[in-house]
Amino acid sequence: MSDLFDHLPDTPIHPISEPDAQKRLEDLKRRVAEHDYHYYVEDAPTISDYEYDALFREIQTLEQAFPSLLTSDSPTQRVGGAPLPAFASAVHHVPMLSLSNAFTDDEIVAFDKRVREALDNHDHAGDLEYDCGVKFDGLAVNLRFEHGVFVNGATRGDGITGEDITANLKTIRSIPLSLADAPPLIEVRGEVLMQKKDFETLNAQQLSRGEKTFVNPRNAAAGSLRQLDPKITAERRLTFFAYGVGETDWGQWSPPPTQSLLLAWLSRHRFLIGDERTVARSVDELLAFYRGIQQKRNDLPYAIDGVVYKVNPFHLQPIIGFVSRAPRFAVAHKFPAEEMKSVILDIDVQVGRTGVLTPVARLQPTFVGGVTVTNATLHNEDEIREKNIKIGDTVIVRRAGDVIPEVARVVLEARPNDARDFVMPKTCPVCGSRVIRQEDEAAARCTGGLYCAAQRKQALLHFASRRAMDIEGLGEKVVDQLVNQSLIQTPADIYRLTLETVAALDRMAEKSAANLLAAIEKSKHTTLARFIFALGIRHVGEQTARDLAQSLGSLEALMRASLEQLLAVYDVGEVIAQSILRFFSEPHNREVLDQLLKAGIHWESPSITGGTGVLSGKIFVLTGTLPTLSRMEATQLIEAAGGKVSGSVSKKSHYVLAGENPGSTLAKAEALNITIIDEARLKALLLGA
Ligand code: IVH
Repeated sequence: MSDLFDHLPDTPIHPISEPDAQKRLEDLKRRVAEHDYHYYVEDAPTISDYEYDALFREIQTLEQAFPSLLTSDSPTQRVGGAPLPAFASAVHHVPMLSLSNAFTDDEIVAFDKRVREALDNHDHAGDLEYDCGVKFDGLAVNLRFEHGVFVNGATRGDGITGEDITANLKTIRSIPLSLADAPPLIEVRGEVLMQKKDFETLNAQQLSRGEKTFVNPRNAAAGSLRQLDPKITAERRLTFFAYGVGETDWGQWSPPPTQSLLLAWLSRHRFLIGDERTVARSVDELLAFYRGIQQKRNDLPYAIDGVVYKVNPFHLQPIIGFVSRAPRFAVAHKFPAEEMKSVILDIDVQVGRTGVLTPVARLQPTFVGGVTVTNATLHNEDEIREKNIKIGDTVIVRRAGDVIPEVARVVLEARPNDARDFVMPKTCPVCGSRVIRQEDEAAARCTGGLYCAAQRKQALLHFASRRAMDIEGLGEKVVDQLVNQSLIQTPADIYRLTLETVAALDRMAEKSAANLLAAIEKSKHTTLARFIFALGIRHVGEQTARDLAQSLGSLEALMRASLEQLLAVYDVGEVIAQSILRFFSEPHNREVLDQLLKAGIHWESPSITGGTGVLSGKIFVLTGTLPTLSRMEATQLIEAAGGKVSGSVSKKSHYVLAGENPGSTLAKAEALNITIIDEARLKALLLGA
């Protein structure tokens, strides 16, 4: 018997040839994609689960038999592969911007007025219409399709660099893995969210497994998307809604001329875009749309936090332009914050990173804006006085979106006789140092500096935070212990921690200790901008840190910079500049910096990471119509080369890029003696000439 089978190879010969298998696979993959679309996008399945599974299993079998036929757009790739050690970073060549918010009708009137004024000069206002849609309350992502194949997906991050979460995004069935009739390159942008029903199911499941539940669909979506193990993401049902595009190369296709036609294009290419859409031609129509959506809000299958209006024709958008990181041609009309009654049980004081003492109301737990609130910031003493808040008061608590809950006002009629005034302590509740309040400041501060454990903890947490050194696992509980046990004092001490020390901490398993040490090690390779931000210099936020890194190019240059040099950096004024000088004149800070560098923290110099940073640090102002480039394209080119585009001329501008019919900008530039260039000269500069 065995003789008979001896000649057979170990792997069975499949009864189908490879070319036939390839054809069959293509057909099966197309059919599964079709059914995914009917099920997950149209919400109208056309076959039974049983039939679907049969198709899916046939794909699996063929792929196992012919591994070379496995492609990245196969539905088998949706189940999630091996866990990742960490997310890689992904650069957005076209930045992912944010939207300005508006809450009142008046703000919408003002928005429309600004738009029309900007267009008047260009004689385009007659064409004006707005595309209106809902503001999805999820997480922004960028999906890159090259020649129709989904190749990469990333979070928004800081708008320029996000995290590569391709494997997780592939598990989302409303994201097509390939597009038919697609241009050479299209980045589809939109929001990943968890639908209300899927959120309920997930929480019920978490409860039954004895695991923690999520406070709202947005947190559940965020928690599911930032999983290093894509198998976990695959178990959570997430949905993607598209609202725009990033980098594109339309090739032989002509790009849709308006936002609503772009959405129609995306919908035809099988993306969900949401049903609540319209085109409006006046403020009245905008407001009518808003009210209509507000009525429907609770009946929608997913959470939204407002509506979004965008100037519809793309050719008008660049004329209206941008303010800092948001377009002026679009606005988010947010729903009012939710309000709830609660009682102030007590007022505690928290000490922040810079020593500011913040009074925090301890509240009777109340459910508002999708979460249970137990604390609300009271900001400072003046605020408490102005709002006439006492301990024991019944108050109205307000929470909008992801914003920290606030006490809106006191219900005076309900004030009990024993209501007490809040008194700011004279000494720091954490370190006992004197508390001072400078005349020109609303804030009371602990004078303990880094002697104060609270300030030290906050400084360390900031240093380790995601947008700074990004040390995963170095959170509040760990830092608390490390500082309380005097195991670390300064950020430099983080790099001296050993596995033994960390593993000895409370509730720290061997594995998590090893993970933390690996994260610390990994953080040594960073960028100059992140490092500057991590230092926690007062008034130096993320954007300023980036501007400093880009303009000055090195840490040494920043440490040596004079007041004048600092003031010459984009958006750096007197207050920021003085704060930087003060920071670096402090011997203790220099000492810690020195230790950090000795510990091995390093980065590539910004012009190298920028790659094409030929315009690094240069500030441009655009005016008039250019011969071939749109304003947006010119902006993108300049920014991709490390330059910046500012809305108005000042002595800090380096170039004014002028086209036909320039505005008053040109005269102003001449008066300030700023170099004026045309499109041809810009292109020469971009080529490094
Ligand atoms: S347009 C240039 N449309 O809101 C602005 N954004 O504050 C590009 N969002 O990060 C965004 N729904 O994540 C746009 N229909 C919608 C949106 C939307 C939600 C989010 C998006 C963005 C944030 C902007």
